[in-house]
Amino acid sequence: MPFESILQNGFLPSATRPRELPPPFDIYQEIASHIPAEVRDGTFGKTINDLPQLAINGLPPEYHSLLKMTLSVLTQVFVWEPVARKKGTARTVVPSQLSVPLVEVAETLGEPPVFTYADHTLRNWTLRDPSRSFLPDNIDTVFSYSGGEDERSFVAVHVYYESIAVDVISACSRAQKHAINQSEIGFSDAMARLSELIREMSHRFAGVKDTVSPEAFRKELRVFLMGWRNIVKMHYENCKFDASNLRGETGAQSSLLPYIEATVGTLPPHASNSRVQKALDVYHDFLQYQPKDHRHFLQNALQYTQIRRFAQSCDRSEVQEAYNDVVHAVIAFRRLHLSVIHDYIGAGAESSRGTGGSLYNEYIDGLLSANRYQLLNKDMRA
Ligand code: HEM
Repeated sequence: MPFESILQNGFLPSATRPRELPPPFDIYQEIASHIPAEVRDGTFGKTINDLPQLAINGLPPEYHSLLKMTLSVLTQVFVWEPVARKKGTARTVVPSQLSVPLVEVAETLGEPPVFTYADHTLRNWTLRDPSRSFLPDNIDTVFSYSGGEDERSFVAVHVYYESIAVDVISACSRAQKHAINQSEIGFSDAMARLSELIREMSHRFAGVKDTVSPEAFRKELRVFLMGWRNIVKMHYENCKFDASNLRGETGAQSSLLPYIEATVGTLPPHASNSRVQKALDVYHDFLQYQPKDHRHFLQNALQYTQIRRFAQSCDRSEVQEAYNDVVHAVIAFRRLHLSVIHDYIGAGAESSRGTGGSLYNEYIDGLLSANRYQLLNKDMRA
């Protein structure tokens, strides 16, 4: 069945995926398991420079995501360790022992050769008790930059947020089916369920405020999430492209909200206002950092959706209200997120760019305007 894994697990990979790289690639995992100590002692640069040069051919495909995650984590630490230790600036040349296998494995996966949201969140979890669900206190990370509880919670909140995707996909599919059948009551019910799920996404997201201290986020974590684009000029040894364009990890590379937006049509394809168009361009650039099957799933959703068309053409106010409630729930998520960004990085941050390299005020504000354009029936606009 096409997209079987996404329909079963949402955007998180299966719990039974491989956890350990086979030799000789296990050396990367061995190093990754000592990151906090190596950062503290300042030995990471030497450890990476001593690495052998390995070629990835011969490694079975089921290990490629784990290898990509591990190599991209090592690259983040290699680049940002001097900054994290306050002992200098970023290292701007990634040695070929890291850059070549990272680029090779990223190419086979169809992903950018850099640490992405998939590496930070989607692949970076295990369940402490596999018989219990994805509650934040049941989630452990696979790797950690700091080894601290705030970092574990930061990842756990993201994984918990992602774990709602199966229900979201099911509500969107129901709304799509009722839109095709022009069933007004069924459509309104499915859209009401979707609004409820988006409010639950906001609720799960807000858990970050109770579990991650802004100070720990700024001191221990944020630097390791940063990419190169708009932040630092970067060279990957023995690779023929400009690595400086690669963005850093950010929730903006998650597929969950973009899947809703593609299916429901909460963002317009283009905007006449240049500020809003710029935000849409950055939004689409972030989508290039999703795993390949997520991108295809979203393209498929966008191509076949009838949801907005049906809501626009239907003259029943309940249908239009149900549609607008979903748009309002997306707007509420964005507003909440913007206020959390201000709490965590707005006040003490050196620049107003996110780890993904966007000017986040302009970016999220532009998307909020774009969402408001999509509300049906001007009288209902907030
Ligand atoms: C603790 C604090 C957090 C901060 C400082 C933060 C920061 C940011 C920033 C600056 C952006 C804009 C893109 C960029 O990086 O350049 C962004 C986007 C995003 N983040 Fe976060 N984030 C945080 C927590 C979370 C959590 C816990 C989640 C999910 C559970 C999340 C999900 C998202 C999503 C979905 C977007 C896209 C926003 C949109 O389309 O409007 N973030 N984040």
